[in-house]
Amino acid sequence: MLNKAPHVAVAMRTIRTVHAISTWSRALHRQGVTIGMVPTMGAFHAGHLALIRAARRSCEAVVVSVFVNPRQFGRGEDVSRYPRRLRSDAALCAREGVDVLFAPTQEGMYPPGFEASVSVRSLARRWEGECRPGHFEGVATVVTKLLSLVRPEIVFFGQKDFQQTLVVKRLVEDLNPGTRMVVLPTVRDPDGLALSSRNPRLTPAERRAAPVLCAALQAGREAIRSGIRSGSRIRKMMHQVVSGERLAQVDYLAVCDPSTLEPRPRLTGTVVLLGAIRLGRTRLIDNLLVRT
Ligand code: PAJ
Repeated sequence: MLNKAPHVAVAMRTIRTVHAISTWSRALHRQGVTIGMVPTMGAFHAGHLALIRAARRSCEAVVVSVFVNPRQFGRGEDVSRYPRRLRSDAALCAREGVDVLFAPTQEGMYPPGFEASVSVRSLARRWEGECRPGHFEGVATVVTKLLSLVRPEIVFFGQKDFQQTLVVKRLVEDLNPGTRMVVLPTVRDPDGLALSSRNPRLTPAERRAAPVLCAALQAGREAIRSGIRSGSRIRKMMHQVVSGERLAQVDYLAVCDPSTLEPRPRLTGTVVLLGAIRLGRTRLIDNLLVRT
């Protein structure tokens, strides 16, 4: 039933209902099997695959969820434009030795009458939370639900969505779902652009412009390494880099405390450089952790 190593070819199961996934997880828990989980919205790229491979290496059973969660899309964001590629995602999961692909329906996850909601207050307020009202409540609710259904020992997330990792870390600490969280580094294209399911929507000109976000964060990091300790100076330098790219509009560029996400006027210890830009209809986010 289990793929204990990637080379063991055992058929992957696709599970589509919340009832079937919780029955499966209960059975594995009874056998004392450790479950690793990778929550996703699908349209896989190498960033997702890095999380899946890490789960495969460290857990006896691996569940990957693919669910385009309507509750985390803000007003004016079109959930129907989000890429859906379940068939090729399933083929990739099978190749990586995933045991279960959990791909529930919207009605299965949110049946009529669904009212519960999980919110993580202060961490969700700024940055992505401000640009996308309701986003983190949607994320926290669906992640809580996925963790309750699967009850994994370890859940894997990418640093690419830095604020999301803090929100989930908080909810795991506060609500005790019995899960440990592992965060893996951002996977990038050779020109620095962080991989994202949204990148294929960039026009060729936007794609050429897109590395400017990473370049701005790297310029901030270099400035910190050169000894600059003023948060506002670093922020201005990052803005300057992005303003050189006429297709890009800044949502925010910030120098923050990596645990609270509050802006840091004077830099000490480790800081996180956060950025979000818009290129046409596509929004990109990225971040770098920097030790001063
Ligand atoms: P999604 O954007 O599909 O991302 C799934 C996981 O892959 C997240 O943990 C994300 O941080 C990670 N990831 C995305 N791009 C990455 C990259 N370039 N390098 C490394 N990891 C990367 O994040 C979500 O879905 C949703 O909000 C979800 C948590 C599934 C809740 O709906």
